[in-house]
Amino acid sequence: MNTSIQQTALITGASRGIGRAIAKNLADRGIFVYLNFRSDDTGARNTLNDIHYQNGHGELLRFDVTRQNQCNDAVAFVIKQRGRLDILVNNAGIRDDHLFAMMKKPAWETVLDTHLNGFYHLTRPVVRQMIKQRFGRIINISSAAGQVGNAGQVNYSTAKAGIIGATRALAKEIASRGITVNAVAPGFIHTDMVAGLDLENIKKQIPAGRLGHPEEVAHVVGFLCSEQAGYVNGQVLGVNGGLI
Ligand SMILES: NC(=O)c1ccc[n+]([C@@H]2O[C@H](COP(=O)([O-])OP(=O)(O)OC[C@H]3O[C@@H](n4cnc5c(N)ncnc54)[C@H](OP(=O)(O)O)[C@@H]3O)[C@@H](O)[C@H]2O)c1
Repeated sequence: MNTSIQQTALITGASRGIGRAIAKNLADRGIFVYLNFRSDDTGARNTLNDIHYQNGHGELLRFDVTRQNQCNDAVAFVIKQRGRLDILVNNAGIRDDHLFAMMKKPAWETVLDTHLNGFYHLTRPVVRQMIKQRFGRIINISSAAGQVGNAGQVNYSTAKAGIIGATRALAKEIASRGITVNAVAPGFIHTDMVAGLDLENIKKQIPAGRLGHPEEVAHVVGFLCSEQAGYVNGQVLGVNGGLI
């Protein structure tokens, strides 16, 4: 692509945690960032304030990735405003852990809905635009749980493994259009998502002896978004302190 044009990115779940760190990393690279969130208005504003403080540029974009109409409208809005969409980071996520024998249907459905239907709802209209542009970077945030499975997280592990399959298949479909599709699979990262877990016990299982920082995940996403990563496609990059 013409690198004199300021690139545009859409990051889902950018109100806190890993999504916030990704948004700040991409804004630092001079990219205009649309910060999606679902409900945490204050968190999203804090992310945007951080970006402005770094002299970056961005805008809030509230929608729910489980709602197809909202996703279609959001992509149309971005393209109307900016004329293009270069980078999509599918980061929004939830967990609802139960032993499988105790797992009720809503816990199964909401986790799959957020991760898998969320991927479909947003990525499909974005891909159509990226094919027209003949350029794009799609990064899907999976998890170590999707690579090796995690007890108490059959729903979450299923969703995150599905994201890896989607990443590999879509990369093969659209590589010839100048679009890369990769997944990043974090291990345990210090965010709200791990609140309530037995972190002291978890640390003992991590060869690095500590949890990761959101910025360490963001750095890998930033690399995958770069021009230099154009031949990295259909891959799953672990950021897990040697966990797997
Ligand atoms: N933390 C970890 O150890 C870890 C490990 C592996 C993978 N991951 C993955 O990394 C991603 C980010 O996790 P995190 O730890 O940063 O989580 P987090 O701190 O709980 O943040 C989750 C984000 O997702 C957003 N979100 C949730 N449901 C949404 C929906 N339906 N529509 C739009 N946004 C929605 C939330 O928005 P609101 O704030 O507005 O609700 C929030 O911004 C997730 O996909 C997670 O599965 C995390």
